[in-house]
Amino acid sequence: MKLYICKDYDAMSAKAADVVASVITLKPDCILGLATGSTPVGMYQKLAEMNKAGKLDFAEVKTYNLDEYYPIKPTNDQSYRYFMDKNLFDNINIDKANTHLLNGEAVDTDAECAAYDKAIEAAGGIDIQVLGIGNNGHIGFNEPDSELVAATHKTGLTESTIQANSRFFASADEVPRHALTMGMAPIMKARKIIILISGKNKHEVLMGLLSGKITTQNPATMLNMHPDVTVVCDEDAYNG
Ligand code: F6R
Repeated sequence: MKLYICKDYDAMSAKAADVVASVITLKPDCILGLATGSTPVGMYQKLAEMNKAGKLDFAEVKTYNLDEYYPIKPTNDQSYRYFMDKNLFDNINIDKANTHLLNGEAVDTDAECAAYDKAIEAAGGIDIQVLGIGNNGHIGFNEPDSELVAATHKTGLTESTIQANSRFFASADEVPRHALTMGMAPIMKARKIIILISGKNKHEVLMGLLSGKITTQNPATMLNMHPDVTVVCDEDAYNG
């Protein structure tokens, strides 16, 4: 596991953007696995700046996002589709047809999730997966539990995640109680993983990740089994 400890959020975002940009530069038709949440917003801004400056081309890039609330309409301003359009896709020269998110309106969620895993495999697999981490160690919406699920699936949100995500909604009551999420398998199958960790409230789960011990109570610790993981954190997260 490579570890970069950056001075602050801005430096973390710049380092993460450099890592992702290097993958796109080496393989212009690469497959990106993407995350939402507040942590990667700065990195997305930097990637969009590189694109505007003519240093990075997304014309052939394909993307698969980690998760989507359920149920939710893509036009809802709290949907992850809306988030990705606003924070990245509308600001770069990507073909929207090449951007994929789980359908928060799917009637048959099992079929939707199975098709998503198949589509990722058929596209050739994820070249680099971008991850954030929950205060409780979740990645995607793979929440701490006695067992983790391998395949992409529908899941309930824990109370701690509902509370953490309520900052984006008018109240905690409005946070959807379910989500569709990539399971641990598609995440772990990515050829390269970069996880961004910012803020003092992530200190404990970061230390758990760096301890080298693996527990389903901190799902991110599974990354210790992956051969190519880059952790990019800021000093607040590292020092606590
Ligand atoms: C989002 C996702 C989540 C977030 C995590 C951290 O697609 O998969 O696991 O990465 O909840 O969120 P922030 O960055 O808002 O602290």
